[in-house]
Amino acid sequence: MDRAAAVTMDLGDPLAPYRSQFTVAGPIYLDGNSLGRPSASVVEGLAAAVRDWSENLVGGWSRWIDLPAAVGDRVGRLIGAGPGQVVVCDSTTVNLYKLAAASLAARPDRRVILADADDFPTDRYVLQGLAETSGRELRLLHGSAIDGLDTEVVGSAIDADTALVCLSHVNFRSGARLDLAAITEAAHRHGALVLWDLCHSAGAIPVGLDEAGADLAVGCTYKYLNGGPGSPAFAYVRRGLQVQLRQPVWGWFGQQDQFAMGPSYDPKTGMERFLTGTPPVLGLLTVDAAAETVESAGIPALWAKSQQFTAMFVDLVRDQLEPLGATLASPTDPDRRGAHVSVAHPRAWPWCKALIDRRMVIGDFRPPDVLRLGPAPLYTRFVDVFDAVQRMAEVLEAGVEDVRDRPRVT
Ligand SMILES: Cc1ncc(COP(=O)(O)O)c(C=O)c1O
Repeated sequence: MDRAAAVTMDLGDPLAPYRSQFTVAGPIYLDGNSLGRPSASVVEGLAAAVRDWSENLVGGWSRWIDLPAAVGDRVGRLIGAGPGQVVVCDSTTVNLYKLAAASLAARPDRRVILADADDFPTDRYVLQGLAETSGRELRLLHGSAIDGLDTEVVGSAIDADTALVCLSHVNFRSGARLDLAAITEAAHRHGALVLWDLCHSAGAIPVGLDEAGADLAVGCTYKYLNGGPGSPAFAYVRRGLQVQLRQPVWGWFGQQDQFAMGPSYDPKTGMERFLTGTPPVLGLLTVDAAAETVESAGIPALWAKSQQFTAMFVDLVRDQLEPLGATLASPTDPDRRGAHVSVAHPRAWPWCKALIDRRMVIGDFRPPDVLRLGPAPLYTRFVDVFDAVQRMAEVLEAGVEDVRDRPRVT
């Protein structure tokens, strides 16, 4: 692969016109899997929302109050969920807590929560807390640091004592992708519920929740969905399960006839029973505008381009970075990869920092030794990926010194 080939791929890229909807000046940005860029529609939408607030004040609530469900339906279309099964609210951490707690309450006689020892910290912490407060056992499964958990291993760990299986579809560090449908089916064979964290899938990878018969899912909107820093997260509960689950935060936005302001909690019967308090309207409008752009590009086209990106990365890492002491820290099998790729190096943090400080490439560091690169297909070109690897090689060739400051992991 040479630069001319990357240029040719850009010329044939059906998503290339979307780049003009983003401001893309500066270093090569390969951190769209951490925080996506704002599209022009987000910038305009946010300004319009502030105007609306300024002009209509409290009168705006008649239109804003249903946004968690309406934006939820839009996000749902991107993750294979039919209407009325997704709400956008709270953070991923809080939604994970709400849905995991509700699942445990629905399986009172089962003792075990199964999770991935290598999952994102917030997921493990939430489950640790729930295990402790509900008297369950959190059983952590160990897989390969690069290829993730094996489907068979997960399947054979599930039994009649398993209340909940909670896993990330795509591992935050290596990008290893699990077989969502097969694991869901294995859990259902034993009557267990499965909660999927879709943070690294939503907006990038076809998820097919309804098709897989998935029970529950959560995820953030600030990565590939480009909803902005701290934008509200989403929660999915399969329609047939909604009324069986009672979430632990009994807030007034989950209450039937909310404005009757009655004496006691009687939750709605549909997905809105998973809401808690006043929705973050500006964040919801931002997510809506951002997700509309993702929807118009279409998940199949975005996923096709992502797969080309990661395949290209893998080849370039082998050719140009492995001779300099770096190694691929993501699956080599494309069927097990997500939309980002990681590279391990003993000095990954100083390497990552040098690339950022010299305004060459923005990726991120993940302990202990990984530089993670997430080229978002809406606004990244093939030539960016090619150039990024050349710059990464250049910095390694010149030598990276140890740095004293602690990595700041965003
Ligand atoms: C897999 C995964 N889960 C959860 C989170 C964090 O969720 P929150 O938005 O609550 O901080 C992240 C953040 O990057 C993540 O990668």
